[in-house]
Amino acid sequence: MLLSNLRIATMTSGYGLIENGSVSIASGMITSVAKKTTSAEAIDCGGRLLTPGLIDCHTHLVYGGNRANEFEMRLNGLAYADIAQAGGGIMSTVRATRAASGQDLLNAALKRHDSLLAEGVTTIEIKSGYGLDVETEVKMLKVARMLATLRPVDVKTTFLGAHTFPTEFKENHAGYLEILCNQALAQIAKEGLADAVDAFCESIAFSVAETEQVFKAAGTHGLPVKLHAEQLSNLGGAKLAAGYNALSVDHIEYLDEDGVETIAKSGSVAVLLPGAFYYLREKQSPPVAALRKHRVPIATDLNPGSSPVLSLLTTMNMACVLFGLTPEEALLGVTANAACALGLSDRGTIAASQRADLVLWDAERPGDLSYPLGFNPLAAVIRNGEIIRGSLP
Ligand code: NIG
Ligand code: FE
Repeated sequence: MLLSNLRIATMTSGYGLIENGSVSIASGMITSVAKKTTSAEAIDCGGRLLTPGLIDCHTHLVYGGNRANEFEMRLNGLAYADIAQAGGGIMSTVRATRAASGQDLLNAALKRHDSLLAEGVTTIEIKSGYGLDVETEVKMLKVARMLATLRPVDVKTTFLGAHTFPTEFKENHAGYLEILCNQALAQIAKEGLADAVDAFCESIAFSVAETEQVFKAAGTHGLPVKLHAEQLSNLGGAKLAAGYNALSVDHIEYLDEDGVETIAKSGSVAVLLPGAFYYLREKQSPPVAALRKHRVPIATDLNPGSSPVLSLLTTMNMACVLFGLTPEEALLGVTANAACALGLSDRGTIAASQRADLVLWDAERPGDLSYPLGFNPLAAVIRNGEIIRGSLP
């Protein structure tokens, strides 16, 4: 396949724009990216914008139930943490997810999945974490894996059994850690159900010491780690994660500059989640000025409580408006930098030898993607060299 007359945002260095460019694809890979082509066989794309396939590197897309009631409660004055302490929040979704069948979870997840895919997502990360027992965590991860067989998308799964302590172990943290680190991780690793291990390090969830136990157990199974850290307070979770070569530390509104340096040195990336900041009406902005010297991925954090956000394009806009990212940084955040957050070096940019995961947009400039709200200019999606959505001109 040879595509020509493109405005290509290669994302190799900033936008890495190539005007009137062409891209050739063979065997699912990009074979060349050039300025111009004279080949008569080329498909003329009429000057449209081409970007890498979008990557949503942090979601909790599989879950049961609905927490719209908590949105009402928060707007009536209750805090997110107070609702969690009273047995709502994550535990509310845990109860609904435990009660749901795998098929029900799958059906609900497919709808959310399809919203993201309709905006050009070709790789997505999905976490467990609403089971908090071995059976339901395994059920969630199997549903996440299943999504990759039902839709043309790559799914990276993350085991988040350390999302919070379930009610039945509220007074027995050691007991839950034993189940998590020994039983759950062993089974999940043996069945190959997770690509990484995550935890929520916060006063309403896991302490730094408890998080470290989970990271150690992940290491014994050869699984990389990542962390929800410094979302509501600065506990030092990000520094711990850096010491365990975490793929990413996510949220990090309360991370200080020192913490930014520590994670940057470790090679971890800091994922910004503007959806949760927006929905929880947070006031503390992440340390963007310090972070932008390094790589800054962004993601929807799609989840039933703090970020019911089903649009990566909207998330890009939120990252610009709420955190002051430039549209260029926002697009990097869902392409090249999001690939880093998942430890993937074969995608996220348009260059020879990269996977041919591409999106053609009815747009002129890459900045058009993060500018409007509620508008999807997608024209076609190519994944692994095949057209999977829309059509070429
Ligand atoms: O990424 N911060 C922790 N976990 C999720 C939200 C969990 C929930 O409220 O259901 C997040 O925001
Ligand atoms: Fe999250």
